This record gives sequence, C-alpha cells and structure tokens, in this order.
Amino acid sequence: MAKQKMLEDLFHDTLKDIYFAEKKILATLPKMAKAAQSADLKAAFVKHRSETEGHVARLEQVFAIIGKKPQGKTCAAIVGNTDEGAEIMEEYKGSPALDAGLLAAAQAVEHYEISRYGTMRTWAEELGLKEAVALLEATLKEEKATDARRSPESPPRSSTSKQKRPDVTRGPPYSPKSSPLTSSSRGSCMTIITKLLSKVRALAKGRGGVRG
Ligand SMILES: [Fe+2]
Ligand SMILES: [Fe+2]
Repeated sequence: MAKQKMLEDLFHDTLKDIYFAEKKILATLPKMAKAAQSADLKAAFVKHRSETEGHVARLEQVFAIIGKKPQGKTCAAIVGNTDEGAEIMEEYKGSPALDAGLLAAAQAVEHYEISRYGTMRTWAEELGLKEAVALLEATLKEEKATDARRSPESPPRSSTSKQKRPDVTRGPPYSPKSSPLTSSSRGSCMTIITKLLSKVRALAKGRGGVRG
C-alpha cells in the first residue's frame, strides 16, 4: 500500500509548482517587455523581472530548509496564464488595446502568485518552518505590492476614515503622501501603471468602450 501523503508532501509539491511558475514568469516577462508599446510598461515588466529573480532565490532557500533540491513541477495554471498573454501579444499586435491586454494578463499572474504564497506561508506555519514562513512572507508582500501598483483605482485614504481596516488582499491603499504622482516616486512602477491606466481609460471612454 502506498504511503499516505501528508501536509509535508503537499507543501513540497506546491513548492515545486510555484518554483516552476516563477521560472516561467522569468522567461515570459522579457517577451512582455518587448511587446509592450508604452516605454513605461516596458520598464515595469523589466523591474518585475528583477524582483522575480529574488523570488526564485527565496524558493531555493525554502527547498534547502526542507532538505530537498530545487525542482519544478509543471504548473498548468501558469502555463494557461502565460499562454493567454502570448495570445494577446499576437492577436493585439499593433492595436491601441495591446498594453491594456498585457497589463490584464500580468495582473492575472500576480493574483495566482498571491494565492500560492498565502497558502504556502500558512502551511509553513502549520509545519513549524519558521525560516520558510519569513521567506514566503517576504515574497508575498512584494507580490501584493506589485498587484497594488497595478490597481490604481484603490480609493484615496481619507484622514477621517481611520476606522476602516486596510484590505490586505489589495495591498496598501492610495495615499496622497505616497502618491504615485509625487516627484519623489517618479519612475516607480506605481507611477508607470497609473499613467498607463489613465491613458487606457481615456481611450476606452473616447470609444464608448470599457467602463469602470
Ligand atoms: Fe513572483
Ligand atoms: Fe509577481
């Protein structure tokens, strides 16, 4: 009779899954950067690629913590996500909607990563893998921050809304003090994505298309 699989096995399997996913993202981001029409979006993809190298390195440390060698296992979800991105690159080549499609594809990937890292961190806690918890938490924070930069519609934080608890699934809310449009943060991903989204919305409105 086969050995019963435990949470340790599930943790190891899921670690292999996200390791495969991060490597796939590493290979895909340069293609998205090349395809993007906006110089700002290109820069955002290049920046996230360098962050992703750090995510791969942290996962390799987690493999070491559990005494396993780094190894990927095909992750159908990320293959599907990146295939959709490739489809957009091909079908919308030269279209003014290309960058909006690339941004949507990138955000779908980010949400997948947030889901996986949240789960892995919880399981690492269950398994008493303290160092792994810290590593997974560090990457989870970066993924959430990247997602928040791609969601500039977050409402302004009002000085009178202190009773509101932040929605941790969305990353930090927009704050005038840390506005993506301040000169101190010019060039940041948030600035880039905010400007791009404004352009896309203006374009959609002008054509009576996308709302919201
Ligand atoms: Fe990542
Ligand atoms: Fe990411």
